[in-house]
Amino acid sequence: MKRKIRAEMMKKRAAMNKEDLLSRSAVICETLRKLEEFKNAKNVLFYVSTKNEVETQVMLKELLKAGEKNIVVPVTDKKTSTLNLSLIKDFSELVPKTHEILEPADEFIRPVSPEKIDLVITPGIAFDENGNRIGSGCGYYDRLLCGMKNAKKIGLAFELQILPKLPCYDHDVPLDIIITEERIIRLDEKRRI
Ligand SMILES: Nc1ncnc2c1ncn2[C@@H]1O[C@H](COP(=O)(O)OP(=O)(O)OP(=O)(O)O)[C@@H](O)[C@H]1O
Ligand SMILES: [Mg+2]
Repeated sequence: MKRKIRAEMMKKRAAMNKEDLLSRSAVICETLRKLEEFKNAKNVLFYVSTKNEVETQVMLKELLKAGEKNIVVPVTDKKTSTLNLSLIKDFSELVPKTHEILEPADEFIRPVSPEKIDLVITPGIAFDENGNRIGSGCGYYDRLLCGMKNAKKIGLAFELQILPKLPCYDHDVPLDIIITEERIIRLDEKRRI
């Protein structure tokens, strides 16, 4: 079930042209930056976008230059299928690692424990209006998010990635907010069924 959704959504997302992807991403990132939860957060965990994900690299560069937040990114540990966290100070510290995703070069690893994170920005392949998400299927984000009870969890998605209802299991950690280029979906009060 999830596998089929992933495959169909990957196709749909890949059909977007680059220009469209970048302009929609810019709208999403602008909305994120105006969000009270974001403004109030000090330690923010960001995914570094790859391929057809909502683009975060432009915003990351700007935030790092401004130096107003502590920017933390995931470091993949393939052996344990977990994401470790590392503080970055400059975008140039990032190099392509697992699956060509940009991660801090070994000499720039500055470990951060998950409890320190105020707000986490997650990628995903499909989402629904109840805050459910489907990722790449390795459980990396589920493992990470279940240890971050106090962090606000925000997903970035193109509107075409929002489906009516996703299948989800006990290990799937739902999001508090989803931002698309058209709207902000908040799950703060209305909790999922
Ligand atoms: N907290 C957890 N502890 C142990 N295993 C987990 C945990 N969360 C998820 N898993 C396992 O990871 C596998 C993949 O999970 P799932 O299909 O939900 O991935 P996903 O949500 O698409 O991926 P991701 O979390 O990386 O975005 C499942 O077999 C699941 O049992
Ligand atoms: Mg999951």
